[in-house]
Amino acid sequence: MPLRIAVVASGRGSNLQAILDAIAAGTLDAEVVGVWSDRRDAFALERARSAGVPAHPVRPRDYADRAAHDLALFGAIDAAAPDLIVCAGYMRLIGAAAVEARPGRMINIHPSLLPAFKGLHTHQQALDAGVTEHGASVHVVTADLDAGPVLAQARVPVLPGDTAEALAARVLAREHPLLLETLRWIADGRLVLQGSRVQVNGRPLTAPLQLAANQRFA
Ligand code: GRF
Repeated sequence: MPLRIAVVASGRGSNLQAILDAIAAGTLDAEVVGVWSDRRDAFALERARSAGVPAHPVRPRDYADRAAHDLALFGAIDAAAPDLIVCAGYMRLIGAAAVEARPGRMINIHPSLLPAFKGLHTHQQALDAGVTEHGASVHVVTADLDAGPVLAQARVPVLPGDTAEALAARVLAREHPLLLETLRWIADGRLVLQGSRVQVNGRPLTAPLQLAANQRFA
């Protein structure tokens, strides 16, 4: 049975596109059951429609508060019966109640080597800190921002003269294979999420999987 994935995105949707392309190419055994966004103009919704996937804007301004918006958004997602909810560039905080009601069923891709550089402007944060290595992480969503167990990471060098834009582009090129390989491992049961605990090949995951140059986990 293909892994049923719901995607939540606020903007460009290049990670979503990577998922859609991999499914179409037969390299990811999954189905995107819908794409949800807090922004009606998110390009991610356009990408969903082009792929024949249901696209759903759920705007915060139509709800009284965060809890009511979360309830509507995640209630609609639950109705599509996904196995996994993938936050791919979803730029809103998700309330603890919505997260805790779906233990081990939500993952997020974040453009840093967590636990370094949580929150926004991660590439500038990395440049300001003077690190020589940066990257991206896929983690389990918990009630604390960007703090759930890290499943997998991809690393890139920080090069002399890098701007935040140049670094972001280098990271993004690795985000797509990172997210796809993580989804493959979840789809075929090598990676199992149990609440905030994670098993890999039947054993507790003790350190994030690392994406190798061949775009597989080392
Ligand atoms: C990515 O850098 C992702 O890591 C972050 O937001 C960005 C989304 O990009 N959470 P896209 O919308 O998938 O192109």
